[in-house]
Amino acid sequence: MLSMSKQRLEGKVAIATGAASGIGAETVKVFVENGASVVAADVQDELGHQLVASIGSPKVCYCHCDVRDEKQVEETVRFALEKYGSLDVMFSNAGVFGSLSGILDLDLNHFDNTMAINVRGIAATIKHAARVMVANKIRGSIICTASVAGSVAGCGPHAYTASKHAVVGLVRSACSELGSFGIRVNSISPFGVATPLVCNAMHKDPDEVEALTCDFANLKGITLKATHIAEAALFLASDDSVYVSGHNLVVDGGFTAVNQCFPSS
Ligand SMILES: NC(=O)c1ccc[n+]([C@@H]2O[C@H](COP(=O)([O-])OP(=O)(O)OC[C@H]3O[C@@H](n4cnc5c(N)ncnc54)[C@H](O)[C@@H]3O)[C@@H](O)[C@H]2O)c1
Repeated sequence: MLSMSKQRLEGKVAIATGAASGIGAETVKVFVENGASVVAADVQDELGHQLVASIGSPKVCYCHCDVRDEKQVEETVRFALEKYGSLDVMFSNAGVFGSLSGILDLDLNHFDNTMAINVRGIAATIKHAARVMVANKIRGSIICTASVAGSVAGCGPHAYTASKHAVVGLVRSACSELGSFGIRVNSISPFGVATPLVCNAMHKDPDEVEALTCDFANLKGITLKATHIAEAALFLASDDSVYVSGHNLVVDGGFTAVNQCFPSS
C-alpha cells in the first residue's frame, strides 16, 4: 500500500540531465521510486551506468548527452520517445560552478563555458522537450535547476551568478510562450548541497561543506541534502503542482529572504 501511494509519477516519462551525480542522481532515484520511466543523461558515462545499475529497474536507462551540443540534446529527447513512448518531464539540471576568479581577472573562455552549459544547455533542453510536447499534445512539466545564486550575488563566481540569473529569466520567458500549450516551466533554486560540484570547488569533503553551509544557513537544525531538492523536483514534475508555472521554487530555508547582516534577536 505504501509503495502504491508513492507513485506520484505513474505512467510519466522523464529525462534528467546532469543525472550521473549529486542532485540529478538523487532525482532520478526519486522519480523511478514514484513510477516514472527515466532517461538519465550526463557526460560522466561510467557514473551514469553505475547509477542505473544501482537502481536496477527497466524503468531507467543511461544516455550520453553533453548539453552544450544541441544535436545530442535532440537525440536524447528522440531516444526517450523511442524507448518509453512519451516525454512528460524534462528535468534540466546539468550545471558547472566554474572557476573562482574575480572580475578583474575574469577568464572569458571560462565564462563562455559556464554559460554554454548552464544557460545555452538549458535553452536547448527546453526547446527540444517543448517541441515534442507541443507536437504530441503533452501537457508536460519542464523543471530547470537554477540556484540561490540566481537571486543574490556572493554565492558563486561571476559567471555562475550570471548564468543562474539567466536561468530564472529563461524559465519565465519560456513559461509565457508554452502556457498556451498547457506546458508548465519552473525552476528550483537550491541553497548549498554537499555535492561534487561544491566539494570540488571548495576543495573540501562533504562533511566540511555541510558544516560550512549549516553555519551560513538561515534555517537551523537541518542539513540540506540532494534528496530535499529531488522532492521539490518531484512536486513540480507531478500533478500536485498542476497550476504552478513560471515559479522559482527556492529551497534555501529562507536564506535569500533574510538580510543576514541584521539578526532579528
Ligand atoms: N550543490 C549545490 O549546492 C547547488 C546549489 C544550487 C544549484 N545547484 C545546481 O544543481 C545542479 C546540479 O549540480 P550538483 O550540485 O548536483 O553537482 P554535481 O557536480 O554533482 O552534478 C552536476 C552534473 O552535471 C553534469 N554535467 C556537467 N557538464 C555537463 C554537460 N555539458 N552536459 C551534461 N551534463 C553535464 C556533471 O557531469 C554532473 O554529473 C547544477 O545546475 C548546479 O548549478 C547546486
